[in-house]
Amino acid sequence: MTVETILPKRIVSGENSLTYLKSLKGKRASLIISGTFARVNSGVVDLVKKYFKEAGITWHIIYSQGQEPTLEYVKESAKKIQQFLPDTMVAIGGGSTMDSAKIMEVLYEYPDISDDDLFKRFNLPSIRNKIKTFVAIPTTSGTGSEATPYNVVLVKTDNPDVPLIKNSVVDYQTIPDVIILDPVFTVSMPAAITASTGMDALVHAIEAYISKKPKNIFSDLYALEAIKLIFDYLPKAYREGKDLMARANMQYAATMAGIAIAQRGTGLAHGTGQQLGPFFGIRHGLSVSIVLQPVLKYNMPVRKKEYLEIAHYIGISEENEEKTIKRFLKKLSELMKSIDFPSTIQDIGIEKEEYLKNLDMMSKNAMENGATFTNPRTPTIEEIKEIFLSLF
Ligand SMILES: [Fe+2]
Repeated sequence: MTVETILPKRIVSGENSLTYLKSLKGKRASLIISGTFARVNSGVVDLVKKYFKEAGITWHIIYSQGQEPTLEYVKESAKKIQQFLPDTMVAIGGGSTMDSAKIMEVLYEYPDISDDDLFKRFNLPSIRNKIKTFVAIPTTSGTGSEATPYNVVLVKTDNPDVPLIKNSVVDYQTIPDVIILDPVFTVSMPAAITASTGMDALVHAIEAYISKKPKNIFSDLYALEAIKLIFDYLPKAYREGKDLMARANMQYAATMAGIAIAQRGTGLAHGTGQQLGPFFGIRHGLSVSIVLQPVLKYNMPVRKKEYLEIAHYIGISEENEEKTIKRFLKKLSELMKSIDFPSTIQDIGIEKEEYLKNLDMMSKNAMENGATFTNPRTPTIEEIKEIFLSLF
């Protein structure tokens, strides 16, 4: 079987890797930056501006929208970009900022593209014509958006009960040219965000590794190493946010996990968990990680071999296969406890009654979610409901 692997072109990592900006060749840059990050890290933003100056680049700034961007907002921002006529884009922020900047580029290249064409998966017209270099600088270690073709955006609906739904602009062309992983960008991340984004990266790595898509040795190596790094460094990054080594290793893990899902996709933890976002406003990382354990149990009958491989890679080996897998699942549960991760819907502030009221709709949406299609087992609607119901 032929398997294609698509990797980012350039990853610049380690302390002071931000200085790479000085070597940019462009003349005009759109800087799309998370407002929350900029407020807390004005010194780092000043450094970005300093390096732009040294590179002879003029810039304008677009602050990205809070949690998840709406298509309306992305379109408005793209209009500002069209007026500025940049040849370079630099996105600084978490997954939402990164996703919006990547969609803004498409709209900058094709201002009149229809929504239908924009959302045709892996079918965008040729981009990176006006933008010569796209630089991504993640400020969280989770989504891996800097290395993936997936870009989530909220789109208005006619349904007053669910006014916004998630849709994705998906194309490998949107993967940035340069990823800068400088730990200075993640040291100020609050502990709770460190935990939820770090767990999101772990879910990516595991789901990519056990995906229904064809095995891919390149992707699988990234996935295994990401899993190992997260087990080794997430507790420290959570407890000691200023520890640069823990932060740097979590950055590597998140980008590696992003590379893995770029090849093999995610699975049922994303298919089900993501429903908690639109229905209850739960953040992405939290929502997909809270269902990880029940989804792993559900997939066990068809992925024992892969669970064993993961267990061995992170140094677990008991007297037989069953015990080794059991120990791996226990270690996962211990990891989540060590970062105070919630395990029930009550822990994340969802009322049981409200949850049950939306169960049918959430299950239907989960069944139709693209991530569910790459899960190694194809669930029935009843099995999806059972997974949701296991979260009490
Ligand atoms: Fe995710």
